[in-house]
Parts: sequence; C-alpha cells; structure tokens
Amino acid sequence: MTNQDYANLCSKYLMPTYRSAPVAFVRGEGAYLWDADGNRYLDFLAGIAVCSTGHCHPRVVEAIRAQAGTLLHTSNLYCIPLAGELARKLTEVSFADRCFLANSGAEANEAAIKLTRRWAEKHGRPGRVIITAENSFHGRTLATVTATGQEKYRKHFVPLPPGFRYVPYNDIEALRAACEDGQVCAVMLEPIQAEGGVVVPDEDYLPAVRGLCDELGILLILDEVQTGLGRTGRWFAYQHYDIEPDIMTLAKALGSGVPIGACLAREEVAQAFEPGDHASTFGGNYLACAAALATLEVMQDEGLVERAARMGEYLLGRLREMVAPGGLICGARGKGLLVAALLSKPRAREIERACRERGLLLNAVAEDKLRLAPPLIIGEPEVEEALAILGQVLAEIQ
Ligand SMILES: Cc1ncc(COP(=O)(O)O)c(C=O)c1O
Repeated sequence: MTNQDYANLCSKYLMPTYRSAPVAFVRGEGAYLWDADGNRYLDFLAGIAVCSTGHCHPRVVEAIRAQAGTLLHTSNLYCIPLAGELARKLTEVSFADRCFLANSGAEANEAAIKLTRRWAEKHGRPGRVIITAENSFHGRTLATVTATGQEKYRKHFVPLPPGFRYVPYNDIEALRAACEDGQVCAVMLEPIQAEGGVVVPDEDYLPAVRGLCDELGILLILDEVQTGLGRTGRWFAYQHYDIEPDIMTLAKALGSGVPIGACLAREEVAQAFEPGDHASTFGGNYLACAAALATLEVMQDEGLVERAARMGEYLLGRLREMVAPGGLICGARGKGLLVAALLSKPRAREIERACRERGLLLNAVAEDKLRLAPPLIIGEPEVEEALAILGQVLAEIQ
C-alpha cells in the first residue's frame, strides 16, 4: 500500500473531520518518521507536542510491552496501583496534591470544569461562570468547545452549555471588569496560547491573574495540555511566572502517544469531588499509566526539561537570525520548544506543504505563523537540518 492508497482508504471510510495530507506514516524512531512510500521526515511537530520523548523511545516501548503482557485493564471499581503511582509522581513535580486521570486534553478540561462547579457549589459561591480567553483552545467536547474562545469552533454546535464568558488574553483590566457582577467562580487560561499562535503573555499577566483570583476568592485553572511536561523548558509553564494555579490539566505528552489526560488540583479543591461525581472507564488504566510513568522517568533521567530550555533558546535564536528585511520570516516567539516563526505574508500553509515535500514536518498554526514543536530529545544537528530545509523552501517560494 502506498501513501495514496492509504489516503484513499481514509478519505472513503473516516468521517470528513480532518483535512489530512496524503501522507501515511508507518514507522517512527526518535525525531524521524517514515511514510508508506519509504520517505524519511524530520518531525518538528511531534504529533502536536505529544511525542516529547521521540517516536518509540525504547524505554517507553518496553514499559508498554511489559504491561500489555501483564494486565491491560480492570476498572476503577478496584485500586489501580499504577494510577496511584502516576498521581504521586505528578504531584511530586507540580503544585498539586491530587489527580484525576482521563484519556485526553478535552476530558482533562471537562474534569476541571466539573470540579470547579462542584467546588463552587460546596463553597456557596453564587456564580458558576468560568471566564476563558479569546483565541484560546480547550478541546472539542461540548463544554470544552464552549470554553474555547474561538467562534469558528462553536458556531455550528448550538445550543452550547451556559456559564462561559470570554475576555481578551493578556488584559488584566478586561478580566477584572468581567468579574464585576460576582457571577464568576473561576478563570481558565493557557499559560501560553498554543493553538492561538504561540502567544506568550506579558511577564506580569499571570501573576496579576493569580492576584485577582485570590482577591475574589475564585479558582485559577491552567490548561497545560500543550505547554506542560517540559515543553516550554520548565516542567510546567506556570513555573516561568512564579505562581501556582488551583487546578491544572495535562494530556498530550503525558503518555508519549498513548492516550491519557490528567486534571490536577490542590487538596482543598480536589476534595470537592465525592465518589460518583466523576468517572471514566478507561481513565488511569494500566496501559496508559505504564506509558506515562515510563515517559516521566525518561524525562527525568535524560534531563529533557533542561534540554527543552536549552534547545528552545537555540532554535529561537537561529530562527531570529533568519529574519531579514523584505524576507518571509519577520520574527519568532515562544518558550522552550514551543515556538512560532512569524511570517510577513499569509503563506504558512504553502510553506508547511513545501517543507513536508522536502522531509520536514511543521505546522501552519495560523495563515501567517508556523509552529515548531519538535520532540524534546532533539539536538543542534536536528535544528540545523530543519532550518536548512525551511531556508531552502523560503528561498524557492519567495
Ligand atoms: C491547550 C489545549 N487544551 C486542550 C486541548 C485538547 O486536547 P485533546 O485533543 O487531547 O482533547 C488541546 C489540543 O490541542 C490544547 O492544545
């Protein structure tokens, strides 16, 4: 079967929700992928910030293999030892005291929304409104697409659940004004807006949001589904800003590609949930937890968080060197290995396609922004290889 055969198969039988490129990957190793036609690609997208340990890291693969041959699933009706271990590990590296395990980013955010509402109910908060930011992205379920501050994702799916309100990102006064009616119980933000184009807020924004939440006695939920787990050069992006949230959500990189999500909270907030309030058949199952535990071990043993910080600086610096008067790249921004190249013209899709055709995967996160989110295992040679391809593409299409 060729790439085209697989493209035909997928477009005939899958629901048409994705505009997939006619490329079918059949194997991966480290920062590289191979397609069905035998072409090799340098992966600077990593499954959209998922494959942080690289494709098929031997230790992650071995943990999955061993667990698959031992026990795959029981139910949360019984204790799952690996779920307990994973939750402990996540609390050791973060602010949190407890964890609910889910299967995706949207599910982790659903858990955060439900936990917030339950907390508000128990604490006699009159309001149930959760404020999110314009241009945010929190998922595709009905509640999380409603939390998502982008009309284009919501408009075809009315009626949507009530209780969400949107404010401009990086604008503390707008947030304060939106809280004035006393109906708000939480603010939910990405510490860096990833799908929104890798928007890094001002240094004092998140501390000011934290301060406002404390003043009003409302919760701060940080969606670190994309920014968490080393991606930005710290374990969690909130650590860049010297604050702590009350609730944080994770997914993407947690299982190195095995679906898993997590909603973490500090003790007093986590205690709002009671048995029966929330659940998931697969959440925290043996296989996913084995993959996540191995992922966290690899991250620690190989120093991937520090590596992301170091390589992120390098990548950002090299991208900025590509900025030239009249050129297509007019800037670069990001933290760690979550980076966007800013374009002077809306040609990101064309560049994405041309790079792919030359063996480099990156993504047009907006018409005029290219997102680079490589595996955290990369070194300078991979950065140089990627930027050489990007440079060639820019020279050709300019
Ligand atoms: C910040 C953020 N939150 C939530 C999600 C949704 O995660 P999932 O696709 O696993 O449901 C994403 C996905 O891109 C994301 O970037």
